[in-house]
Amino acid sequence: MKRIAVYPGTFDPVTNGHLDIVHRAARQFDRLIIAILRNQDKEPMFDLEERIRLLNDSVGDLDNVEVDSFDGLLVDYAMNVGASMIVRGIRALSDFEYELQMAMMNRRLQPGLEAVFMMPSETYSYLSSRLVREVATLGGNLEGLVPEVVRVALLRRHPAGGRRQAD
Ligand code: PNS
Repeated sequence: MKRIAVYPGTFDPVTNGHLDIVHRAARQFDRLIIAILRNQDKEPMFDLEERIRLLNDSVGDLDNVEVDSFDGLLVDYAMNVGASMIVRGIRALSDFEYELQMAMMNRRLQPGLEAVFMMPSETYSYLSSRLVREVATLGGNLEGLVPEVVRVALLRRHPAGGRRQAD
Protein backbone atom coordinates (compact mmCIF):
# COMPACT_ATOMS: atom_id res chain seq x y z
CA MET A 1 0.00 0.00 0.00
CA LYS A 2 1.32 3.45 -0.91
CA ARG A 3 2.13 5.82 1.92
CA ILE A 4 0.58 9.16 1.01
CA ALA A 5 1.21 12.27 3.11
CA VAL A 6 -0.24 15.77 2.94
CA TYR A 7 1.87 18.80 3.79
CA PRO A 8 -0.67 21.61 4.34
CA GLY A 9 -0.08 25.30 4.79
CA THR A 10 -0.60 28.82 3.55
CA PHE A 11 2.76 29.09 1.74
CA ASP A 12 2.51 32.87 1.27
CA PRO A 13 5.17 32.53 -0.06
CA VAL A 14 7.02 29.21 0.06
CA THR A 15 10.40 29.57 1.81
CA ASN A 16 13.54 27.44 1.84
CA GLY A 17 12.38 26.27 5.28
CA HIS A 18 9.24 24.79 3.69
CA LEU A 19 11.34 23.21 0.94
CA ASP A 20 13.65 21.68 3.53
CA ILE A 21 10.61 19.94 5.04
CA VAL A 22 9.35 18.92 1.58
CA HIS A 23 12.68 17.22 0.77
CA ARG A 24 12.75 15.41 4.12
CA ALA A 25 9.13 14.27 3.81
CA ALA A 26 9.51 13.22 0.15
CA ARG A 27 12.17 10.72 1.28
CA GLN A 28 9.80 9.15 3.82
CA PHE A 29 6.61 8.76 1.78
CA ASP A 30 5.68 7.32 -1.60
CA ARG A 31 3.68 10.41 -2.46
CA LEU A 32 3.68 13.85 -0.87
CA ILE A 33 0.91 16.33 -1.64
CA ILE A 34 1.61 19.95 -0.76
CA ALA A 35 -1.86 21.33 -0.03
CA ILE A 36 -2.34 25.10 -0.05
CA LEU A 37 -5.24 26.43 2.00
CA ARG A 38 -7.59 28.26 -0.37
CA ASN A 39 -9.96 30.27 1.81
CA GLN A 40 -8.34 32.59 4.28
CA ASP A 41 -9.57 35.34 6.53
CA LYS A 42 -6.61 37.55 5.77
CA GLU A 43 -5.64 38.81 2.35
CA PRO A 44 -2.54 36.92 1.15
CA MET A 45 0.39 38.68 -0.55
CA PHE A 46 0.31 36.10 -3.37
CA ASP A 47 -2.98 34.85 -4.75
CA LEU A 48 -3.62 31.12 -4.92
CA GLU A 49 -2.58 30.72 -8.57
CA GLU A 50 0.74 32.42 -7.91
CA ARG A 51 1.42 30.40 -4.76
CA ILE A 52 0.72 27.22 -6.74
CA ARG A 53 3.06 28.35 -9.52
CA LEU A 54 5.85 29.30 -7.12
CA LEU A 55 5.57 25.95 -5.34
CA ASN A 56 5.41 23.96 -8.59
CA ASP A 57 8.51 25.77 -9.87
CA SER A 58 10.29 25.00 -6.58
CA VAL A 59 9.57 21.26 -6.36
CA GLY A 60 9.81 20.31 -10.03
CA ASP A 61 12.86 18.14 -9.34
CA LEU A 62 10.94 15.82 -6.98
CA ASP A 63 9.03 13.06 -8.78
CA ASN A 64 6.78 12.03 -5.89
CA VAL A 65 5.73 15.55 -4.88
CA GLU A 66 2.70 17.41 -6.21
CA VAL A 67 1.00 20.70 -5.41
CA ASP A 68 -2.73 21.06 -4.81
CA SER A 69 -5.10 23.38 -2.96
CA PHE A 70 -7.96 22.76 -0.57
CA ASP A 71 -10.62 24.43 1.49
CA GLY A 72 -12.81 23.11 4.26
CA LEU A 73 -11.42 20.71 6.81
CA LEU A 74 -7.88 19.46 6.29
CA VAL A 75 -8.85 15.99 7.54
CA ASP A 76 -11.60 15.73 4.89
CA TYR A 77 -9.14 16.72 2.17
CA ALA A 78 -6.57 14.22 3.46
CA MET A 79 -9.12 11.38 3.47
CA ASN A 80 -10.29 12.31 -0.04
CA VAL A 81 -6.77 11.98 -1.45
CA GLY A 82 -6.11 8.75 0.46
CA ALA A 83 -3.48 10.19 2.79
CA SER A 84 -2.67 8.57 6.12
CA MET A 85 -0.28 11.25 7.40
CA ILE A 86 -0.21 15.01 7.82
CA VAL A 87 3.25 16.55 7.79
CA ARG A 88 4.04 19.78 9.60
CA GLY A 89 7.32 21.54 10.26
CA ILE A 90 8.32 22.59 13.77
CA ARG A 91 11.06 25.20 14.07
CA ALA A 92 11.06 25.92 17.77
CA LEU A 93 9.18 25.16 20.94
CA SER A 94 6.99 28.18 20.23
CA ASP A 95 5.50 26.34 17.21
CA PHE A 96 4.66 23.31 19.26
CA GLU A 97 1.62 24.49 21.19
CA TYR A 98 -0.28 25.60 18.07
CA GLU A 99 0.71 22.43 16.22
CA LEU A 100 -0.33 20.23 19.14
CA GLN A 101 -3.74 21.91 19.31
CA MET A 102 -4.30 21.40 15.59
CA ALA A 103 -3.04 17.82 15.69
CA MET A 104 -5.34 16.96 18.62
CA MET A 105 -8.35 18.55 16.93
CA ASN A 106 -7.55 16.74 13.68
CA ARG A 107 -7.20 13.46 15.60
CA ARG A 108 -10.58 13.99 17.21
CA LEU A 109 -12.12 14.68 13.82
CA GLN A 110 -10.36 11.81 12.07
CA PRO A 111 -8.69 9.32 14.45
CA GLY A 112 -7.10 7.27 11.64
CA LEU A 113 -4.98 10.14 10.42
CA GLU A 114 -1.54 10.63 11.99
CA ALA A 115 0.44 13.86 12.35
CA VAL A 116 4.17 13.80 11.65
CA PHE A 117 6.37 16.68 12.77
CA MET A 118 9.67 17.40 11.12
CA MET A 119 12.42 19.84 12.04
CA PRO A 120 14.02 21.89 9.27
CA SER A 121 17.75 22.53 9.17
CA GLU A 122 18.81 25.00 11.86
CA THR A 123 19.72 27.36 9.00
CA TYR A 124 16.01 28.00 8.62
CA SER A 125 14.97 27.78 12.26
CA TYR A 126 14.01 31.47 12.40
CA LEU A 127 12.50 31.70 8.93
CA SER A 128 8.79 32.30 8.30
CA SER A 129 6.66 33.49 5.40
CA ARG A 130 5.57 36.43 7.55
CA LEU A 131 9.17 37.59 8.06
CA VAL A 132 9.94 37.04 4.37
CA ARG A 133 7.01 39.28 3.41
CA GLU A 134 8.11 41.94 5.88
CA VAL A 135 11.77 41.92 4.80
CA ALA A 136 10.76 42.01 1.13
CA THR A 137 8.42 44.94 1.71
CA LEU A 138 11.21 46.86 3.48
CA GLY A 139 13.83 46.09 0.86
CA GLY A 140 16.00 43.53 2.65
CA ASN A 141 18.06 40.84 0.98
CA LEU A 142 16.38 37.42 0.91
CA GLU A 143 19.03 35.52 -1.00
CA GLY A 144 19.36 31.96 0.27
CA LEU A 145 16.14 32.16 2.27
CA VAL A 146 13.58 31.68 -0.48
CA PRO A 147 13.69 29.87 -3.84
CA GLU A 148 14.96 32.10 -6.67
CA VAL A 149 11.51 32.18 -8.33
CA VAL A 150 10.07 33.56 -5.10
CA ARG A 151 12.84 36.14 -4.75
CA VAL A 152 12.13 37.35 -8.29
CA ALA A 153 8.38 37.45 -7.62
CA LEU A 154 8.97 39.46 -4.43
CA LEU A 155 11.28 41.90 -6.22
CA ARG A 156 8.68 42.40 -8.93
CA ARG A 157 6.12 43.20 -6.25
CA HIS A 158 8.44 45.40 -4.20
CA PRO A 159 10.85 47.10 -6.59
CA ALA A 160 12.14 49.31 -3.74
CA GLY A 161 13.63 46.14 -2.31
CA GLY A 162 15.25 45.46 -5.67
CA ARG A 163 16.96 48.86 -5.71
CA ARG A 164 18.40 48.38 -2.26
CA GLN A 165 19.72 44.91 -3.12
CA ALA A 166 21.38 46.26 -6.23
CA ASP A 167 23.27 48.93 -4.25
O1 PNS B 1 0.89 27.58 7.12
P1 PNS B 1 -0.17 27.70 8.17
O2 PNS B 1 -0.97 28.97 7.96
O3 PNS B 1 0.35 27.55 9.56
O4 PNS B 1 -1.19 26.45 7.91
C1 PNS B 1 -2.32 26.29 8.71
C2 PNS B 1 -3.23 25.15 8.14
C3 PNS B 1 -3.58 25.42 6.70
C4 PNS B 1 -2.50 23.83 8.25
C5 PNS B 1 -4.51 25.12 9.02
O5 PNS B 1 -5.04 26.40 9.12
C6 PNS B 1 -5.58 24.18 8.49
O6 PNS B 1 -5.42 22.98 8.52
N1 PNS B 1 -6.70 24.75 7.99
C7 PNS B 1 -7.80 23.99 7.44
C8 PNS B 1 -9.06 24.10 8.29
C9 PNS B 1 -9.13 23.01 9.33
O7 PNS B 1 -9.06 21.83 9.03
N2 PNS B 1 -9.31 23.41 10.61
C10 PNS B 1 -9.41 22.52 11.74
C11 PNS B 1 -8.07 21.91 12.10
S1 PNS B 1 -7.42 22.54 13.58
